[in-house]
Amino acid sequence: MDPDQAGAPIEEADGNQGGLIARMEMIQAKYGYLPKHELKTIAKNTGRSLVDIYGVATFYKAFSLEPRGKHVISVCLGTACHVHGGPRIAEAFQKELGIRPGETTSDREFSLETVNCLGACALGPVVVADGHYFSKVRTPEVKETIERTAKGLDLIEIETDERIFPVEVSCARCNHSLMDPRHIIDGHPCIRVTVSFGNRHGWLALSSLYGSYKVASEYEIPIDEIVHVFCPHCHAELIGGGRCSDCGAPMVPMIVRGGGVVQICARRGCRGHMLDPGGVPLE
Ligand code: FES
Repeated sequence: MDPDQAGAPIEEADGNQGGLIARMEMIQAKYGYLPKHELKTIAKNTGRSLVDIYGVATFYKAFSLEPRGKHVISVCLGTACHVHGGPRIAEAFQKELGIRPGETTSDREFSLETVNCLGACALGPVVVADGHYFSKVRTPEVKETIERTAKGLDLIEIETDERIFPVEVSCARCNHSLMDPRHIIDGHPCIRVTVSFGNRHGWLALSSLYGSYKVASEYEIPIDEIVHVFCPHCHAELIGGGRCSDCGAPMVPMIVRGGGVVQICARRGCRGHMLDPGGVPLE
């Protein structure tokens, strides 16, 4: 789905919550929030009431009804992070950015949010900046975190970057863990799924380090090939409503232990990925 078609009629959303959410994700990606006129268009094209559409938009934390900044910083204030100093970290971000949680800087560079639990309680206090997790954050690191976020967080050194940490994921359909301790990649148990492409069908092992792209597979997957990814336990295809913002291929959602959704691009070689603490896993 092309983000520029955000105002176009929505056949695929007709009575289908997954299609509706996918369309909202596209609009959110295009504008950084869900403008009222786009929600009205959705209501008109789907025959659903505007109240209904707003209900979906406000239910999921991933959506915003107000313009957000270019960079979004979320500070966890869940119980574990609270105990480990989350409120002090949130205060430090407020002070540095000059805004309160829920607000956006006047230059539209940063939005600040607080969230309840990001599913990485042992690593608290946790901060997510533009989808990248920072663990055990201390107040002296806040300023640098903002500066690094402003410069862009895509350049990650696996060996030295403290943002790299392992995620534990499970199938969004059957909730069975996808972790495989028998196969170690980057020093941690890998994530094991089944993939199919062409007439091949075999296992794929992914590094569980968020930000690492190391994989091993039963069959060599050609670069640019879009694969179908399945849970090896319930055999359901792991597919959500979203598309990769880098290449347009489907995103593959997996549930992060403790909450949230990690999504990776289904195209071999594409580095599109996101970690969404309030994510919507499946259609
Ligand atoms: S309480 Fe912060 S990650 Fe769970």
